Amino acid sequence: MKKMSRKTGLKGTVHIPGDKSISHRAVMFGSLAEGTTVIRGFLKGADCLSTIDCFRKMGIIIEENDSEILVHGKGLHGLKAPAGPLDVGNSGTTTRLISGILAGQDFESRLSGDASLNSRPMDRIIRPLTMMQADIESEDGSGCAPLIIRGGRLKGIHYQSPVASAQVKSCILLAGLYAEGETSVTEPALSRDHTERMLRAFGAPVVSEGKTCRIHSPKNLKAQTIEVPGDISSAAYFIVAGLITPDSDLLIKNVGINETRAGIIKVCHDMGADLTLLNQRDQGGEPAADIRVRTSHLHGTVIEGEIIPTLIDELPVIAVMAAFASGRTIIRDARELRVKESDRIETVSQHLKAMGADITPTDDGFIIEGPATLTGTSIHCRMDHRIAMSFAIAAINADGVTVIEDSDCVDVSYPDFFRQLEALY
Ligand code: S3P
Repeated sequence: MKKMSRKTGLKGTVHIPGDKSISHRAVMFGSLAEGTTVIRGFLKGADCLSTIDCFRKMGIIIEENDSEILVHGKGLHGLKAPAGPLDVGNSGTTTRLISGILAGQDFESRLSGDASLNSRPMDRIIRPLTMMQADIESEDGSGCAPLIIRGGRLKGIHYQSPVASAQVKSCILLAGLYAEGETSVTEPALSRDHTERMLRAFGAPVVSEGKTCRIHSPKNLKAQTIEVPGDISSAAYFIVAGLITPDSDLLIKNVGINETRAGIIKVCHDMGADLTLLNQRDQGGEPAADIRVRTSHLHGTVIEGEIIPTLIDELPVIAVMAAFASGRTIIRDARELRVKESDRIETVSQHLKAMGADITPTDDGFIIEGPATLTGTSIHCRMDHRIAMSFAIAAINADGVTVIEDSDCVDVSYPDFFRQLEALY
Protein backbone atom coordinates (compact mmCIF):
# COMPACT_ATOMS: atom_id res chain seq x y z
CA MET A 1 0.00 0.00 0.00
CA LYS A 2 1.27 3.52 -0.86
CA LYS A 3 -0.03 6.86 0.33
CA MET A 4 0.69 9.67 -2.10
CA SER A 5 0.01 13.40 -2.32
CA ARG A 6 0.57 16.41 -4.56
CA LYS A 7 4.09 17.23 -5.77
CA THR A 8 5.55 19.88 -8.03
CA GLY A 9 8.88 20.35 -9.76
CA LEU A 10 9.89 16.84 -10.85
CA LYS A 11 13.51 17.15 -11.92
CA GLY A 12 16.20 14.65 -12.86
CA THR A 13 17.13 11.65 -14.96
CA VAL A 14 15.23 8.36 -15.02
CA HIS A 15 16.81 5.06 -16.10
CA ILE A 16 14.05 2.91 -17.51
CA PRO A 17 14.16 -0.89 -16.94
CA GLY A 18 14.38 -3.28 -19.86
CA ASP A 19 11.53 -3.87 -22.26
CA LYS A 20 9.18 -6.57 -21.01
CA SER A 21 8.15 -7.87 -24.44
CA ILE A 22 11.76 -8.12 -25.64
CA SER A 23 12.97 -9.70 -22.37
CA HIS A 24 10.38 -12.51 -22.62
CA ARG A 25 11.28 -13.24 -26.22
CA ALA A 26 15.03 -13.25 -25.57
CA VAL A 27 14.63 -16.01 -22.95
CA MET A 28 12.24 -18.05 -25.11
CA PHE A 29 14.22 -17.87 -28.35
CA GLY A 30 17.51 -18.32 -26.46
CA SER A 31 16.13 -21.55 -24.95
CA LEU A 32 15.31 -22.87 -28.44
CA ALA A 33 18.62 -21.79 -29.98
CA GLU A 34 21.90 -23.65 -30.18
CA GLY A 35 24.56 -22.10 -27.96
CA THR A 36 24.46 -19.53 -25.16
CA THR A 37 22.35 -16.41 -25.57
CA VAL A 38 23.55 -13.43 -23.53
CA ILE A 39 20.85 -10.93 -22.50
CA ARG A 40 21.84 -7.49 -21.19
CA GLY A 41 19.31 -5.06 -19.78
CA PHE A 42 16.87 -7.91 -19.02
CA LEU A 43 13.77 -6.86 -17.05
CA LYS A 44 13.77 -8.72 -13.74
CA GLY A 45 10.06 -8.17 -13.23
CA ALA A 46 7.77 -10.97 -12.06
CA ASP A 47 6.34 -11.59 -15.56
CA CYS A 48 9.71 -12.21 -17.19
CA LEU A 49 10.83 -14.29 -14.19
CA SER A 50 7.78 -16.50 -14.83
CA THR A 51 9.11 -17.11 -18.34
CA ILE A 52 12.55 -18.04 -16.95
CA ASP A 53 10.93 -20.37 -14.44
CA CYS A 54 8.90 -22.16 -17.14
CA PHE A 55 11.96 -22.83 -19.32
CA ARG A 56 14.01 -24.01 -16.32
CA LYS A 57 11.24 -26.51 -15.63
CA MET A 58 11.74 -27.78 -19.18
CA GLY A 59 15.43 -28.42 -18.61
CA ILE A 60 17.02 -25.17 -19.80
CA ILE A 61 19.89 -23.87 -17.70
CA ILE A 62 19.52 -20.12 -17.21
CA GLU A 63 22.11 -18.23 -15.16
CA GLU A 64 21.52 -14.79 -13.68
CA ASN A 65 24.10 -12.29 -12.52
CA ASP A 66 23.92 -8.53 -11.86
CA SER A 67 24.30 -7.43 -15.46
CA GLU A 68 23.43 -10.42 -17.64
CA ILE A 69 21.22 -13.43 -18.12
CA LEU A 70 22.83 -16.43 -19.80
CA VAL A 71 20.46 -18.85 -21.52
CA HIS A 72 22.08 -22.15 -22.45
CA GLY A 73 19.86 -23.12 -25.35
CA LYS A 74 19.27 -26.76 -26.26
CA GLY A 75 18.03 -26.29 -29.80
CA LEU A 76 14.54 -26.43 -31.29
CA HIS A 77 13.98 -29.99 -30.05
CA GLY A 78 15.83 -29.83 -26.74
CA LEU A 79 13.01 -29.06 -24.27
CA LYS A 80 12.12 -31.77 -21.72
CA ALA A 81 8.63 -32.56 -20.44
CA PRO A 82 8.12 -30.52 -17.24
CA ALA A 83 7.70 -32.62 -14.09
CA GLY A 84 4.65 -30.57 -12.99
CA PRO A 85 2.44 -27.70 -14.14
CA LEU A 86 4.04 -24.55 -15.58
CA ASP A 87 3.21 -21.50 -13.46
CA VAL A 88 2.74 -18.46 -15.72
CA GLY A 89 1.89 -16.09 -12.84
CA ASN A 90 0.23 -12.88 -14.04
CA SER A 91 1.80 -13.01 -17.50
CA GLY A 92 -0.34 -13.11 -20.63
CA THR A 93 2.78 -12.87 -22.81
CA THR A 94 4.34 -15.96 -21.18
CA THR A 95 1.10 -17.92 -21.55
CA ARG A 96 0.29 -17.10 -25.14
CA LEU A 97 3.82 -17.28 -26.56
CA ILE A 98 4.84 -20.43 -24.70
CA SER A 99 1.63 -22.14 -25.88
CA GLY A 100 2.85 -21.78 -29.48
CA ILE A 101 6.14 -23.42 -28.52
CA LEU A 102 4.47 -26.19 -26.47
CA ALA A 103 2.13 -26.98 -29.36
CA GLY A 104 5.24 -28.16 -31.23
CA GLN A 105 6.63 -30.45 -28.47
CA ASP A 106 5.81 -34.12 -28.27
CA PHE A 107 4.91 -34.04 -24.58
CA GLU A 108 1.95 -32.90 -22.50
CA SER A 109 2.03 -29.72 -20.43
CA ARG A 110 -0.35 -27.81 -18.19
CA LEU A 111 -0.23 -24.00 -17.90
CA SER A 112 -1.86 -22.08 -15.09
CA GLY A 113 -1.50 -18.60 -13.58
CA ASP A 114 -2.99 -16.29 -10.94
CA ALA A 115 -6.68 -15.33 -10.74
CA SER A 116 -6.28 -12.41 -13.17
CA LEU A 117 -4.41 -14.51 -15.74
CA ASN A 118 -6.81 -17.45 -15.42
CA SER A 119 -9.71 -15.17 -16.34
CA ARG A 120 -8.20 -13.79 -19.56
CA PRO A 121 -9.30 -15.15 -22.96
CA MET A 122 -7.18 -17.95 -24.37
CA ASP A 123 -9.63 -19.03 -27.07
CA ARG A 124 -7.80 -16.52 -29.27
CA ILE A 125 -4.82 -18.91 -29.33
CA ILE A 126 -6.73 -22.18 -28.89
CA ARG A 127 -8.50 -21.58 -32.20
CA PRO A 128 -5.47 -21.06 -34.50
CA LEU A 129 -3.38 -23.72 -32.72
CA THR A 130 -6.23 -26.20 -33.16
CA MET A 131 -6.36 -25.27 -36.85
CA MET A 132 -2.65 -26.17 -36.95
CA GLN A 133 -3.70 -29.58 -35.54
CA ALA A 134 -2.41 -29.02 -32.02
CA ASP A 135 -4.27 -30.67 -29.17
CA ILE A 136 -4.94 -27.78 -26.77
CA GLU A 137 -7.82 -27.28 -24.40
CA SER A 138 -9.03 -25.05 -21.64
CA GLU A 139 -9.25 -27.38 -18.64
CA ASP A 140 -12.65 -26.16 -17.42
CA GLY A 141 -14.00 -25.37 -20.89
CA SER A 142 -14.19 -21.63 -20.17
CA GLY A 143 -11.72 -20.65 -22.91
CA CYS A 144 -9.30 -19.53 -20.19
CA ALA A 145 -6.27 -21.11 -18.47
CA PRO A 146 -5.49 -23.65 -17.03
CA LEU A 147 -4.56 -24.96 -20.46
CA ILE A 148 -3.59 -28.51 -21.31
CA ILE A 149 -1.39 -28.85 -24.38
CA ARG A 150 -0.41 -32.14 -25.98
CA GLY A 151 1.97 -31.06 -28.69
CA GLY A 152 3.01 -32.88 -31.79
CA ARG A 153 2.87 -32.67 -35.51
CA LEU A 154 1.71 -29.28 -36.71
CA LYS A 155 0.60 -28.10 -40.12
CA GLY A 156 1.17 -24.57 -41.38
CA ILE A 157 -1.91 -22.39 -41.85
CA HIS A 158 -2.75 -18.90 -42.96
CA TYR A 159 -4.53 -17.18 -40.09
CA GLN A 160 -6.60 -14.04 -40.48
CA SER A 161 -6.49 -12.79 -36.92
CA PRO A 162 -9.64 -11.04 -35.68
CA VAL A 163 -7.54 -9.01 -33.18
CA ALA A 164 -4.41 -6.90 -33.53
CA SER A 165 -2.48 -8.83 -30.89
CA ALA A 166 1.26 -9.46 -30.86
CA GLN A 167 0.69 -12.29 -28.41
CA VAL A 168 -1.62 -14.10 -30.84
CA LYS A 169 0.65 -13.37 -33.82
CA SER A 170 3.73 -14.54 -31.89
CA CYS A 171 2.03 -17.70 -30.65
CA ILE A 172 1.25 -18.72 -34.24
CA LEU A 173 4.72 -17.82 -35.56
CA LEU A 174 6.33 -19.84 -32.75
CA ALA A 175 4.13 -22.83 -33.57
CA GLY A 176 5.23 -22.19 -37.17
CA LEU A 177 8.81 -23.02 -36.08
CA TYR A 178 7.56 -26.61 -35.79
CA ALA A 179 4.96 -26.78 -38.58
CA GLU A 180 5.06 -28.46 -41.95
CA GLY A 181 4.90 -25.86 -44.75
CA GLU A 182 4.37 -22.13 -44.46
CA THR A 183 2.64 -20.49 -41.48
CA SER A 184 1.35 -16.93 -41.90
CA VAL A 185 -0.72 -14.42 -39.96
CA THR A 186 -2.55 -11.30 -41.15
CA GLU A 187 -3.66 -8.78 -38.53
CA PRO A 188 -6.35 -6.09 -38.77
CA ALA A 189 -3.70 -3.53 -37.70
CA LEU A 190 0.01 -4.06 -37.18
CA SER A 191 0.90 -5.00 -33.61
CA ARG A 192 4.37 -4.88 -32.04
CA ASP A 193 6.90 -6.68 -34.23
CA HIS A 194 9.56 -7.77 -31.71
CA THR A 195 9.01 -11.48 -32.47
CA GLU A 196 9.58 -11.02 -36.19
CA ARG A 197 12.71 -8.90 -35.65
CA MET A 198 14.24 -11.17 -33.04
CA LEU A 199 13.41 -14.47 -34.78
CA ARG A 200 15.14 -13.10 -37.89
CA ALA A 201 18.18 -12.20 -35.78
CA PHE A 202 18.24 -15.80 -34.46
CA GLY A 203 18.25 -17.00 -38.09
CA ALA A 204 14.60 -17.97 -38.71
CA PRO A 205 13.14 -17.19 -42.14
CA VAL A 206 10.45 -14.66 -41.21
CA VAL A 207 9.09 -12.34 -43.89
CA SER A 208 6.94 -9.31 -43.05
CA GLU A 209 4.79 -7.60 -45.69
CA GLY A 210 2.47 -4.94 -44.32
CA LYS A 211 0.12 -6.59 -41.84
CA THR A 212 1.13 -10.13 -42.84
CA CYS A 213 4.11 -12.16 -41.70
CA ARG A 214 5.21 -15.62 -42.76
CA ILE A 215 7.54 -18.23 -41.37
CA HIS A 216 8.92 -21.60 -42.47
CA SER A 217 10.32 -24.08 -40.00
CA PRO A 218 14.08 -23.40 -39.80
CA LYS A 219 16.77 -26.10 -39.34
CA ASN A 220 17.90 -24.37 -36.19
CA LEU A 221 18.13 -21.06 -34.32
CA LYS A 222 21.52 -19.59 -33.41
CA ALA A 223 22.27 -18.03 -30.01
CA GLN A 224 22.56 -14.23 -29.95
CA THR A 225 23.65 -11.39 -27.70
CA ILE A 226 20.61 -9.24 -27.00
CA GLU A 227 20.81 -5.68 -25.66
CA VAL A 228 17.32 -4.95 -24.34
CA PRO A 229 16.31 -1.27 -24.67
CA GLY A 230 14.26 0.43 -21.93
CA ASP A 231 10.52 -0.22 -22.03
CA ILE A 232 8.49 2.64 -23.52
CA SER A 233 5.48 1.29 -21.61
CA SER A 234 7.39 1.93 -18.36
CA ALA A 235 8.75 5.27 -19.63
CA ALA A 236 5.14 6.34 -20.29
CA TYR A 237 4.51 7.04 -16.57
CA PHE A 238 7.44 9.42 -16.41
CA ILE A 239 6.58 11.01 -19.75
CA VAL A 240 3.11 11.85 -18.46
CA ALA A 241 4.42 12.84 -15.01
CA GLY A 242 6.87 15.31 -16.60
CA LEU A 243 4.18 16.80 -18.84
CA ILE A 244 1.38 17.29 -16.30
CA THR A 245 3.26 18.03 -13.05
CA PRO A 246 3.93 21.79 -12.75
CA ASP A 247 7.52 23.02 -13.10
CA SER A 248 8.98 19.68 -14.22
CA ASP A 249 11.86 18.80 -16.52
CA LEU A 250 12.83 15.12 -16.92
CA LEU A 251 15.35 13.23 -18.98
CA ILE A 252 14.26 9.62 -19.54
CA LYS A 253 17.21 7.53 -20.69
CA ASN A 254 17.40 4.64 -23.11
CA VAL A 255 13.83 4.14 -24.28
CA GLY A 256 12.92 1.75 -27.11
CA ILE A 257 11.02 3.72 -29.78
CA ASN A 258 10.17 0.94 -32.24
CA GLU A 259 7.35 2.46 -34.32
CA THR A 260 5.01 -0.42 -33.46
CA ARG A 261 5.30 0.71 -29.81
CA ALA A 262 5.78 4.46 -29.96
CA GLY A 263 2.23 5.76 -30.50
CA ILE A 264 2.36 7.63 -27.21
CA ILE A 265 5.02 9.97 -28.59
CA LYS A 266 2.78 10.98 -31.48
CA VAL A 267 -0.19 11.44 -29.13
CA CYS A 268 1.85 13.63 -26.78
CA HIS A 269 2.93 15.80 -29.72
CA ASP A 270 -0.68 15.97 -30.98
CA MET A 271 -1.71 17.20 -27.51
CA GLY A 272 0.89 19.97 -27.57
CA ALA A 273 3.59 18.33 -25.42
CA ASP A 274 7.10 19.67 -25.05
CA LEU A 275 8.73 16.28 -25.73
CA THR A 276 12.05 15.86 -27.55
CA LEU A 277 13.81 12.69 -28.73
CA LEU A 278 17.57 12.89 -28.16
CA ASN A 279 20.45 10.63 -29.13
CA GLN A 280 18.41 8.43 -31.47
CA ARG A 281 20.23 5.18 -32.20
CA ASP A 282 19.91 1.50 -33.03
CA GLN A 283 20.21 -0.80 -30.04
CA GLY A 284 20.58 -4.46 -31.04
CA GLY A 285 18.11 -4.22 -33.93
CA GLU A 286 15.63 -1.98 -32.09
CA PRO A 287 15.51 1.85 -32.36
CA ALA A 288 16.12 3.67 -29.05
CA ALA A 289 16.40 7.28 -27.81
CA ASP A 290 16.52 9.43 -24.70
CA ILE A 291 13.35 11.47 -24.11
CA ARG A 292 13.19 14.94 -22.57
CA VAL A 293 9.85 16.18 -21.31
CA ARG A 294 8.90 19.50 -19.73
CA THR A 295 5.63 20.68 -18.20
CA SER A 296 3.24 21.54 -21.02
CA HIS A 297 -0.19 23.06 -21.67
CA LEU A 298 -1.95 20.07 -23.19
CA HIS A 299 -5.15 19.97 -25.19
CA GLY A 300 -7.53 17.13 -26.05
CA THR A 301 -7.22 14.86 -29.08
CA VAL A 302 -8.78 11.86 -30.80
CA ILE A 303 -6.96 8.51 -30.54
CA GLU A 304 -8.36 5.78 -32.81
CA GLY A 305 -7.67 3.24 -35.56
CA GLU A 306 -4.28 1.82 -36.42
CA ILE A 307 -2.38 3.76 -33.75
CA ILE A 308 -4.21 1.84 -30.99
CA PRO A 309 -2.03 -1.32 -30.95
CA THR A 310 1.09 0.90 -30.81
CA LEU A 311 0.01 2.38 -27.46
CA ILE A 312 -2.42 -0.16 -26.05
CA ASP A 313 -0.58 -0.58 -22.71
CA GLU A 314 -0.15 3.19 -22.34
CA LEU A 315 -3.87 4.04 -22.60
CA PRO A 316 -4.49 4.05 -18.82
CA VAL A 317 -1.82 6.71 -18.24
CA ILE A 318 -2.86 8.53 -21.44
CA ALA A 319 -6.37 8.72 -19.93
CA VAL A 320 -4.83 10.30 -16.82
CA MET A 321 -2.98 12.79 -19.05
CA ALA A 322 -6.22 13.59 -20.90
CA ALA A 323 -7.91 14.46 -17.60
CA PHE A 324 -5.34 17.27 -17.22
CA ALA A 325 -5.63 18.49 -20.85
CA SER A 326 -8.01 21.25 -21.93
CA GLY A 327 -11.00 20.10 -23.96
CA ARG A 328 -12.25 16.71 -25.07
CA THR A 329 -10.19 13.58 -25.65
CA ILE A 330 -11.82 10.64 -27.39
CA ILE A 331 -10.23 7.19 -27.29
CA ARG A 332 -11.93 4.55 -29.43
CA ASP A 333 -11.18 1.19 -31.14
CA ALA A 334 -9.53 0.03 -27.89
CA ARG A 335 -11.90 -2.79 -26.89
CA GLU A 336 -8.84 -4.92 -26.14
CA LEU A 337 -8.48 -2.89 -22.92
CA ARG A 338 -11.33 -4.96 -21.56
CA VAL A 339 -9.23 -8.17 -21.57
CA LYS A 340 -5.96 -6.92 -20.07
CA GLU A 341 -4.78 -7.67 -16.50
CA SER A 342 -8.03 -5.95 -15.49
CA ASP A 343 -10.89 -4.52 -17.58
CA ARG A 344 -9.00 -1.27 -18.02
CA ILE A 345 -11.96 0.66 -19.46
CA GLU A 346 -13.74 -0.11 -16.22
CA THR A 347 -10.83 0.32 -13.76
CA VAL A 348 -9.60 3.56 -15.33
CA SER A 349 -13.08 5.16 -15.59
CA GLN A 350 -14.17 4.11 -12.13
CA HIS A 351 -11.08 5.51 -10.40
CA LEU A 352 -10.67 8.67 -12.49
CA LYS A 353 -14.35 9.45 -11.90
CA ALA A 354 -13.89 8.86 -8.16
CA MET A 355 -11.04 11.39 -8.22
CA GLY A 356 -13.31 13.99 -9.87
CA ALA A 357 -12.52 13.66 -13.58
CA ASP A 358 -15.21 13.95 -16.25
CA ILE A 359 -14.81 10.58 -17.97
CA THR A 360 -17.38 8.45 -19.77
CA PRO A 361 -16.54 4.84 -20.54
CA THR A 362 -17.68 3.53 -23.92
CA ASP A 363 -17.68 0.01 -25.37
CA ASP A 364 -14.24 0.48 -26.84
CA GLY A 365 -12.65 3.43 -25.03
CA PHE A 366 -13.39 6.65 -23.15
CA ILE A 367 -14.50 10.24 -23.60
CA ILE A 368 -12.69 12.60 -21.26
CA GLU A 369 -13.42 16.31 -20.75
CA GLY A 370 -10.60 18.26 -19.16
CA PRO A 371 -9.01 19.86 -17.38
CA ALA A 372 -10.17 18.51 -14.03
CA THR A 373 -9.03 19.16 -10.48
CA LEU A 374 -8.51 15.72 -9.00
CA THR A 375 -8.86 14.73 -5.35
CA GLY A 376 -7.26 11.71 -3.73
CA THR A 377 -9.17 8.48 -3.15
CA SER A 378 -8.43 4.75 -2.68
CA ILE A 379 -7.25 2.93 -5.79
CA HIS A 380 -7.96 -0.80 -6.00
CA CYS A 381 -5.56 -2.08 -8.62
CA ARG A 382 -7.18 -5.51 -9.19
CA MET A 383 -3.75 -7.12 -9.71
CA ASP A 384 -3.08 -4.69 -12.56
CA HIS A 385 0.38 -3.09 -12.47
CA ARG A 386 -0.51 -0.45 -15.05
CA ILE A 387 -3.44 0.77 -12.96
CA ALA A 388 -1.15 1.21 -9.92
CA MET A 389 1.42 3.23 -11.88
CA SER A 390 -1.09 5.34 -13.82
CA PHE A 391 -2.86 6.37 -10.61
CA ALA A 392 0.45 7.09 -8.87
CA ILE A 393 0.95 9.78 -11.52
CA ALA A 394 -2.61 11.06 -11.00
CA ALA A 395 -1.98 11.01 -7.21
CA ILE A 396 0.98 13.38 -7.31
CA ASN A 397 -1.21 15.83 -9.21
CA ALA A 398 -4.26 15.55 -6.94
CA ASP A 399 -5.42 17.33 -3.77
CA GLY A 400 -5.47 15.31 -0.57
CA VAL A 401 -4.20 11.79 -0.13
CA THR A 402 -4.46 8.96 -2.66
CA VAL A 403 -4.02 5.45 -1.35
CA ILE A 404 -2.76 2.91 -3.89
CA GLU A 405 -3.91 -0.40 -2.41
CA ASP A 406 -2.01 -3.55 -3.46
CA SER A 407 0.74 -1.30 -4.89
CA ASP A 408 3.14 -4.28 -4.91
CA CYS A 409 1.56 -5.38 -8.17
CA VAL A 410 4.02 -3.00 -9.94
CA ASP A 411 6.59 -5.82 -9.45
CA VAL A 412 5.14 -7.45 -12.54
CA SER A 413 6.83 -4.96 -14.88
CA TYR A 414 8.59 -2.27 -12.80
CA PRO A 415 9.74 -3.35 -9.31
CA ASP A 416 11.68 -0.09 -8.76
CA PHE A 417 8.87 2.22 -9.91
CA PHE A 418 7.96 3.97 -6.64
CA ARG A 419 11.59 4.45 -5.57
CA GLN A 420 12.45 6.03 -8.94
CA LEU A 421 9.39 8.29 -8.86
CA GLU A 422 10.08 9.43 -5.29
CA ALA A 423 13.69 10.27 -6.25
CA LEU A 424 12.38 13.02 -8.56
CA TYR A 425 10.74 15.12 -5.83
C1 S3P B 1 2.52 -7.95 -25.63
C2 S3P B 1 1.45 -7.69 -26.44
C3 S3P B 1 0.29 -6.90 -26.00
C4 S3P B 1 0.58 -6.10 -24.75
C5 S3P B 1 1.29 -6.91 -23.72
C6 S3P B 1 2.61 -7.43 -24.26
C7 S3P B 1 3.63 -8.77 -26.16
O1 S3P B 1 -0.78 -7.78 -25.71
O2 S3P B 1 -0.61 -5.56 -24.23
O3 S3P B 1 1.55 -6.14 -22.56
O4 S3P B 1 4.72 -8.78 -25.57
O5 S3P B 1 3.43 -9.41 -27.21
P1 S3P B 1 -1.81 -8.27 -26.84
O6 S3P B 1 -1.08 -9.13 -27.78
O7 S3P B 1 -2.88 -9.03 -26.08
O8 S3P B 1 -2.34 -7.03 -27.49
